[in-house]
Amino acid sequence: MRVGKHHFRTIWLDELDPRIVQIIDQRNLPHEFNIEDLRTVDDMVTAIKDMHVRGAGLIGAAAGYGMYLAALHSGSFKSPYNHLLDAADLLTASRPTAVNLSWAINRQLKTLTHHHSYEQIVQSTKTMAQTIADEDARACFQIGQHGLPLIRDLSLLKTGAVVNILTHCNAGWLAFVDHGSATAPIYAAHDAHIKIHVWVDETRPRNQGARLTAWELEQHGVPYTVITDNAGGHLMQNGLVDLVIVGTDRTTYTGDVANKTGTYLKALAAHDNQVPFYVALPGSSFDWETADGVNDIPIEQRAGEEVKFIQGLSHQGLTSVLLTPSESPAINYAFDVTPARLVTGLITERGLCHADEESILALFPEGRA
Ligand code: MRU
Repeated sequence: MRVGKHHFRTIWLDELDPRIVQIIDQRNLPHEFNIEDLRTVDDMVTAIKDMHVRGAGLIGAAAGYGMYLAALHSGSFKSPYNHLLDAADLLTASRPTAVNLSWAINRQLKTLTHHHSYEQIVQSTKTMAQTIADEDARACFQIGQHGLPLIRDLSLLKTGAVVNILTHCNAGWLAFVDHGSATAPIYAAHDAHIKIHVWVDETRPRNQGARLTAWELEQHGVPYTVITDNAGGHLMQNGLVDLVIVGTDRTTYTGDVANKTGTYLKALAAHDNQVPFYVALPGSSFDWETADGVNDIPIEQRAGEEVKFIQGLSHQGLTSVLLTPSESPAINYAFDVTPARLVTGLITERGLCHADEESILALFPEGRA
């Protein structure tokens, strides 16, 4: 994706030293663009936990590269393979909701056994990490192609007037390796010269919408407006939203959608106002084992400090300020679950489907296994 005049992915191997994984550190965007070097699996665990990298697809890719970093340092252990199993546990525990994390780790482990040598383990994890990253970027591009007709049809219906799309959080290229999920159809529509405008929910408490989605859209030249999280209902009631597209950190094979907290309220408002509500996701974000998303998807609870403080740019540089009384209790549920009945459809790399078991498994028959 574009940053100024350059094309970037969110994660890659250092060209000069492939023992180093490089990432865009997202913590201080959009005010600071920093590239960080990661050398060990512990570096990667910290990067995921503390959200230097974030978003379902990117967390999966990061876990894949984390296993490669663990492999590189496994030579001094009696059993390199056992060291990898320990690394897998560490990475799995780093964030609970995005299913791409365990999906990527399992893909890494499936290709290896106790019998593999150090060299084989390094080569195999490196190849698999790169495959996971490449597949993620490709899937997101395809999501864009499959989502484009939805926006084109709305544009035709409005005889070419601007199509207003609302999105929540950041399911853009920063949340994946490239292109993004929710943003991929938006970029495709913009590139196809369809007139669009995006309502960007700020997405408290970490403001991934205001900081990241806004920045991405600006880099790509897509018209957008940042709104407070609670403004969406009003906009929908007043006919100012034609379509909602969000991403997901985990979607059950029955169509329940876990996404950044506040998504459920948007889906309720969309339902009440007959606004189509779509969820864009690669196959790697399906949970093939969980049927009841509302009760069984683990919802990450993060530090209450994220609610109490807000970060922004002041004359002194990047600053964090306290919003609440200093002793105020705060609770921070990072995700919520939108039941399938509120979802108009899913946009995947294999095409569109309904948010139900039959349609999902028709597109992804391997999910039955
Ligand atoms: O906590 P984050 O930033 O890792 O949350 C992930 C998200 O950005 C959103 O929930 C997103 O909409 C889905 S991830 C593609």
